[in-house]
Amino acid sequence: MSDPGTSTSPRRTGAGREAAAPTLAVRPATTDDVPALAELAALTFPLACPPGSTEQDQREFVAAHLSRDRFAQYLADPAREVLVAADGVPLLGYTMTVAGEPSDADVRAAIRLRPTVELSKCYVHPEQHGRGVAGALMAAVLARAAASGAAGVWLGVNQLNARAQAFYRRSGFEVVGTKHFQVGGRLEDDFVLERALR
Ligand SMILES: CC(C)(COP(=O)(O)OP(=O)(O)OC[C@H]1O[C@@H](n2cnc3c(N)ncnc32)[C@H](O)[C@@H]1OP(=O)(O)O)[C@@H](O)C(=O)NCCC(=O)NCCS
Repeated sequence: MSDPGTSTSPRRTGAGREAAAPTLAVRPATTDDVPALAELAALTFPLACPPGSTEQDQREFVAAHLSRDRFAQYLADPAREVLVAADGVPLLGYTMTVAGEPSDADVRAAIRLRPTVELSKCYVHPEQHGRGVAGALMAAVLARAAASGAAGVWLGVNQLNARAQAFYRRSGFEVVGTKHFQVGGRLEDDFVLERALR
């Protein structure tokens, strides 16, 4: 998809939240974003890992899946879409979706809606948590998945990642199953969440 993305207004404030900058924009990533994406991904991936996950396991995962080369491949893959939230430079957050039938048998059995899109990555810079950046990214992901003809969006989230689970619940997702997720030498336990688009 090649549209320029959308500017957004700040999400709700209150409860100690600061408003996102009014110039916050969500747009599809370009190859120019690859170095910043890899940097942001390496910074934020450990935040999604449970306490038992070691630095070495996390480093191995980042090297294997979140390098500049990998992001360049993701951008070239027609099944994937990487969105970035930006307020100038550097990037504030990013998402990656993957359209199509899931490769994981546990996920295929758990999700109910077809065609489906996986929200494979949803990460916001730690200094921007609680400011509406994640909400702006999620709104764009859901709108673009719906426009693509998908009936649902699914994702995996670590069972100990309470903050992300709260965010996804507020975004309309519900738990429909469980799956495993390999991080280095450890097999982590995820919930599978799904949300209808129609
Ligand atoms: C997940 C993420 C994108 C959400 O963005 P965010 O800006 O933090 O989201 P919000 O602040 O809008 O929402 C977080 C919710 O968790 C709640 N929360 C905050 N800390 C929490 C905690 N320790 N335990 C439980 N809930 C918590 C907040 O109150 C809020 O819920 P509410 O809106 O119902 O009050 C962001 O936290 C992030 O990048 N985390 C690190 C990477 C990650 O875990 N990604 C998800 C991988 S599946």
